[in-house]
Amino acid sequence: MKKITKNLLCILMTAVMLTTAIIPSFAAENFVWDAIFESDDTKAGLIMFAGSDETERNFTWYTETENTPVITLSTNILMIGAEDFEGTTEKASDGDFVNHVTITNLDFDTTYYYKAVSGDYESAVYSFRTASEDEFKAVYMTDIHITNDSEENTTSLYDTSLGLHNALTDAFIKEPDINLLISAGDQASDGLEAEYKAFTASPFLKSIPVATTIGNHDRKGVEYKTFANVPNEYEEAKVSSYVGDNYWFVKGDVLFLMADTNNASGEDHVAFVEKAVNENPDVKWKVLVAHHDLYSGRIPHRESENALIRLMWAPIVDEYGIDLVLLGHSHFYTVSNVLYNNKTVAPLAPEMVDPAGTVYMVSCSINRPREEEELGLNEDVIGFDYLTLEPTYNILSFTDDSITVESYEVGADEVFNSFTITKTTDDGGHEYKENAIVSMFNNFVRKIGSIYAIFNNIGRYSDLKEDGFDVDFLDCLLGR
Ligand SMILES: [Fe+2]
Ligand SMILES: [Fe+2]
Repeated sequence: MKKITKNLLCILMTAVMLTTAIIPSFAAENFVWDAIFESDDTKAGLIMFAGSDETERNFTWYTETENTPVITLSTNILMIGAEDFEGTTEKASDGDFVNHVTITNLDFDTTYYYKAVSGDYESAVYSFRTASEDEFKAVYMTDIHITNDSEENTTSLYDTSLGLHNALTDAFIKEPDINLLISAGDQASDGLEAEYKAFTASPFLKSIPVATTIGNHDRKGVEYKTFANVPNEYEEAKVSSYVGDNYWFVKGDVLFLMADTNNASGEDHVAFVEKAVNENPDVKWKVLVAHHDLYSGRIPHRESENALIRLMWAPIVDEYGIDLVLLGHSHFYTVSNVLYNNKTVAPLAPEMVDPAGTVYMVSCSINRPREEEELGLNEDVIGFDYLTLEPTYNILSFTDDSITVESYEVGADEVFNSFTITKTTDDGGHEYKENAIVSMFNNFVRKIGSIYAIFNNIGRYSDLKEDGFDVDFLDCLLGR
């Protein structure tokens, strides 16, 4: 009976995903979201992350007891001929066990059904479809800010997870073939297990893979470290920022470089990018996703933070020919011109063919849009900015020869900004003009950054201790 109820819930969720309009958070008839938010699968925090490439998916969920976790996978909705994939379990920060499973050998363009099983826990049956070999669509959001309940706001988890679900619903109504969520950090406001569980509530996140980066708010707690189940982590890093490492994955003809800009260890960042690029020599497109924005903080202290992080990252973006950079943190929507060496080499335009530089983009927050407009210090490199109190999301279409970005406010029918980058050759990236003196300076900055990262981790250790987290000093020092 329990299984039938779960499967009915799953069907109900699917119906909600595909047919409903956005559920207003203030509506009295929120029984559908009540059922989703209170479901066993939300309590377990079941979520699907991107795997190393389209043939893989990674899963996370929480249980109260320690058992070998299993994902049961089939191409058949009745789960006939299902294959079991076993994973690992470890203690999470709040006392639960966190389960990680990777499934492999998936085919392109194929629908799969799965359920997660561990001890007494058995999820509903969910489905997902793999993308084709060359083309796919993604939704890019940032600063989702799932926020824990407090005395002042006892429905914060409920409301903020509904905010994310509404944005995803809106995106899927526009584009049902979305096959990836790119989330550029600050998934949670305090880095807590309860927040990450609520982050998973939307049933969409059980049917498309999620690729997250570490925001400064994710680093306020320690749970992101066990929550995120990401591929190809750069574990060789000498210094990390305690809750995770840089990682990469490939989808279609795109190498996604997922970087942790909380970590100032420049030597590690450049080594990570070099390794990822060398291991994927045939990809045509390179997209960097990171949290801290680089050109449009639009608050004085953020502008100075931008300038320091830019010193580290802009030369890496130039040297490795990154096509598109997706960022967050400022909660303010901007798209740069085509930039090289921190300067405009071509204006942002609806169609950009073989640009000789990189477009940097920051989307607006899902649950905390910026309320005031302030001009920044780098307006000469910004091609488009947009002040809105509405959350925004972006549908990215990756094809053989182009990347198209279409930006929407949640609830609006019309695109408020769009652009396409097209390449007429198979070569990835764009030309890099080497300069020995500049290279020496960049190496110096990267070394200083690595030293700074260690001191930053010492500060982080005392903050975490003060907040009552049980962390080891040596682990924290090197960010492990
Ligand atoms: Fe944020
Ligand atoms: Fe942030």
